[in-house]
Amino acid sequence: MPAPVTIVILAAGLGTRMKSRRAKVLHRAGGKTLIGHVVDTALELAPPERIFVVVGHQADEVRRSLTTPGIGFIEQTEQKGTGHAVTIGRSALEHLDGYLMVLYGDSPLLRAVTLRRLVDQETSGTSAAVLMSALMDDPFGYGRVIRDSRGRVVDIVEQKAGTPEQLAIREANMGIYCYRADLFWKHAGEIVPNPASGEYYLTDMAAILTRAGHTVEAMQIADPGEALGINDRAQLAEVDAILRERKRRALMVSGVTLVKPETITVDADVTIGMDTIVEPFTQILGRTTIGENCRIGACSIVQDSTLADEVEIGAFTMVNKSTLERGAIAGPYARLRMENQVGPAAHIGNFVELKKTRLGAGAKANHLAYLGDSDIGDKVNIGAGTITCNYDGVYKHPTKIGAGAFIGSNATLVAPLEIGEGAYTAAGSTITDAVPADALALGRARQETKPDWARKRRARTAAQKSAK
Ligand code: UD1
Ligand code: MG
Repeated sequence: MPAPVTIVILAAGLGTRMKSRRAKVLHRAGGKTLIGHVVDTALELAPPERIFVVVGHQADEVRRSLTTPGIGFIEQTEQKGTGHAVTIGRSALEHLDGYLMVLYGDSPLLRAVTLRRLVDQETSGTSAAVLMSALMDDPFGYGRVIRDSRGRVVDIVEQKAGTPEQLAIREANMGIYCYRADLFWKHAGEIVPNPASGEYYLTDMAAILTRAGHTVEAMQIADPGEALGINDRAQLAEVDAILRERKRRALMVSGVTLVKPETITVDADVTIGMDTIVEPFTQILGRTTIGENCRIGACSIVQDSTLADEVEIGAFTMVNKSTLERGAIAGPYARLRMENQVGPAAHIGNFVELKKTRLGAGAKANHLAYLGDSDIGDKVNIGAGTITCNYDGVYKHPTKIGAGAFIGSNATLVAPLEIGEGAYTAAGSTITDAVPADALALGRARQETKPDWARKRRARTAAQKSAK
């Protein structure tokens, strides 16, 4: 068992350059908050009990956005620097043995494999800390990694404080560290406020540990973009594009066909099974799970929904907070508005809207219908133009239709209403009263036919015209 790692994620800053009333880490990229990405990556390396988020600006909102049980929070009411942000958590963190890793809540591109390499380098050697660095063509704004004549890391110098020779150094500090926890806490009190800014710099730990006779190493990463911290909305959009591309690649590698992948948007937490085909311009969002061998039609939007295997979503269909069981078909041009449960092999056709409705196995509503607050049994056939009148202007009412019932076209079903198993309603009916099982209900005016009426009328109007 390797020694355990405790991860502290700094997320107290407001992020002034976002020009937003919302804390920076609550902005979204790749369909998830920035802090959500970092916490999920951290969870690949440590259990929730060893993950701590330092919160400050909109602390409550940040806390509420993270729902994984067990994660710890450290409140930093005043942002006095990165060193302050970590050491303020001393009472919660100091007793945790092993290693201490520091991440930023605004750097969602960091991958768990890269962080694991950092931890491996620290745990396999004898150094007191390993920091992540990168050789950059333009390291402006970053702290520079200062090495001695033997190449050992001895200090980090911030942009503002660097001499011209130091600022010419291309090795930049990414701000991600893994410390030996005991040594970190032994020396953490030695960080003093920076004379120029008055802030406590975590970067000072490199020099402090070196002075105490320990070694500090740097692990260079090839792509500094991975540690990119978001500062403004332009960077947010860039990072969003990168996260989207990563998600699409991961899906394709796992056996999902994306047709014209560059047009498809899939949120970070979505899962899709093998041999499912996703057509162009589709958006699959939120907490959606899609099974194997499904087809998601062009321009559809599927959000917070669960689709079993072999489900087919036609083009231009919206599915929200709904469950579709094996072999169900919805669309093209259908809208499953919310909280619907569509049974196995049920069919929902064009211009059909469902809201809070259960459709039983093999039931069909193939054209032009509104089904709301309804419980529809197995193998029911809903004729074209059927409307459940579920709202009386004040209250919503349920409609229950028993298995095998047949609802004739253009029915107006006035809820609350119950239609028994195997019953029929005649086309064009307004049904207001319960229909017993196996009955036929007619709720329409009886047709009257007047022979020759049309011919006589034409003759009459022709006579009137010639008289004028
Ligand atoms: C820091 C490093 C710098 C490095 C860079 C990489 C220091 C002094 N400098 O600079 O060497 O190159 O990261 O991006 O550490 N935060 C808090 N509380 C605070 C201060 C900051 O939670 O009191 C959070 C911020 O919200 C942010 C992160 O820590 O997410 C980094 O802080 P920031 O002020 O952006 O540090 P940099 O100037 O980028
Ligand atoms: Mg920064």
